[in-house]
Amino acid sequence: MSEQIITLSNKTVSDPAEYGPLRDHGPLFRAAIEGLESPVWFVAGFDDCKEILHDSRFIRDQSKLPGAEGPSLTDEMLEQVGMPREYFKYFGLLGLSDGEEHTRMRNVVARAFTARRVNALRAGLEKSAADTYAALAAKGEGDLIGELGYPFTAAAICELMGVDEADRPKLMGWIMEYVSYDTERLVAAIGNIIDYYKDLIARRRAEPTDDLISELTKPGGPDQDLLTDDVIIAIFLLLTSTGIAPPAHFLGQAILALLQHPEELAKLRAEPKLLARRTVPELIRFATSVPTGGPLYAAEDFEFRGCPVKTGDAVIPSLLGVNHDPRQFSDALKLDVARDMGPGVGHLSFGSGSHYCTGAALAQLETEIVINTFLIQNQTMELAVKPEELQYFDVPGKGTALGALPVRF
Ligand code: HEM
Repeated sequence: MSEQIITLSNKTVSDPAEYGPLRDHGPLFRAAIEGLESPVWFVAGFDDCKEILHDSRFIRDQSKLPGAEGPSLTDEMLEQVGMPREYFKYFGLLGLSDGEEHTRMRNVVARAFTARRVNALRAGLEKSAADTYAALAAKGEGDLIGELGYPFTAAAICELMGVDEADRPKLMGWIMEYVSYDTERLVAAIGNIIDYYKDLIARRRAEPTDDLISELTKPGGPDQDLLTDDVIIAIFLLLTSTGIAPPAHFLGQAILALLQHPEELAKLRAEPKLLARRTVPELIRFATSVPTGGPLYAAEDFEFRGCPVKTGDAVIPSLLGVNHDPRQFSDALKLDVARDMGPGVGHLSFGSGSHYCTGAALAQLETEIVINTFLIQNQTMELAVKPEELQYFDVPGKGTALGALPVRF
């Protein structure tokens, strides 16, 4: 264990090749990460990280730490981006709660992701991917993040929530502003989205269908005491913020990874049955499009694998680092479309334990459909720029993300 504080730029946090020497600093090491105010503990080893994600001595809700006072971290962040105070109640669901409070709400959110609901999206998503492919191919070029990733994943979320077809263009316009990574545009769009969700809930209460909103608002259904209109709006905002931008950028990174590994793409094209069970999880591991998970806080003083952790210390899991740990994955830096990660999920791109990504099955379905449509069924697409010309943007404290993926046909 080292007492030294290692400075990590956004670029380092997002580069799997940088993690070899970093892991030598021990299971936990102190790091000053670009975009974060104070140094944190950083974990980049697979076993160490998995254990932390399952250890209830590490919690998400900073306001529950002994002696904690002042505004919660969520409220502070909302204050900073200029979010109107009346909307604060809609944020912080799931990601920043623990124990029973988290489990109960998570069980409600999980109702959006039953196998029946996710599988019911398949036909619509296949059509949407095929239509987008046809439109871009006819144009001869396109940006696969802006023109495929965002509209494709946003359509899935609208379908999942039960947004009427006729309302989608209007809602999608506001959603694009909301998930734009630009705080001014986000705040400007939020009022319209909340008003729209309020109206939709009122309509479904009056005339239920078989969609998610109707299920959540059903009189006498389970958890009715919990499911006020405000909580349903908070659930929808959570699905809107987690279910669009992360998978949209990931889809771009997944396609890029295959275009940059023509020998692996050829292997997949020769054996397309690898796609769902082997290639999709491998792309999710390899790209790890969310390079770091949210902070966990030590709820007491204790020693973690030889490191003295103090109450209130923050630990950041490097999901990218752990997914490229050679002690867990052979040839960890290599993309292998036939990689067998053994039983279970295998990688930690979706986290692990009680906060495991609720949208994982949907993200995998979206990836399977997009890769099948854009790289297996059709085989003429190529990168329109040199890899070194691709633009990445900083996500403060969370590394970098690919901004656009220009391709031609
Ligand atoms: C490739 C795409 C995606 C990636 C890489 C991803 C990754 C993650 C990660 C790393 C976490 C945090 C785990 C933790 O805090 O320990 C998470 C949580 C979550 N994700 Fe995803 N996600 C993706 C797609 C989605 C989609 C499509 C949805 C929903 C429609 C979704 C909904 C959520 C929710 C609600 C949580 C919070 C779970 C909780 O705190 O209990 N994600 N995701």
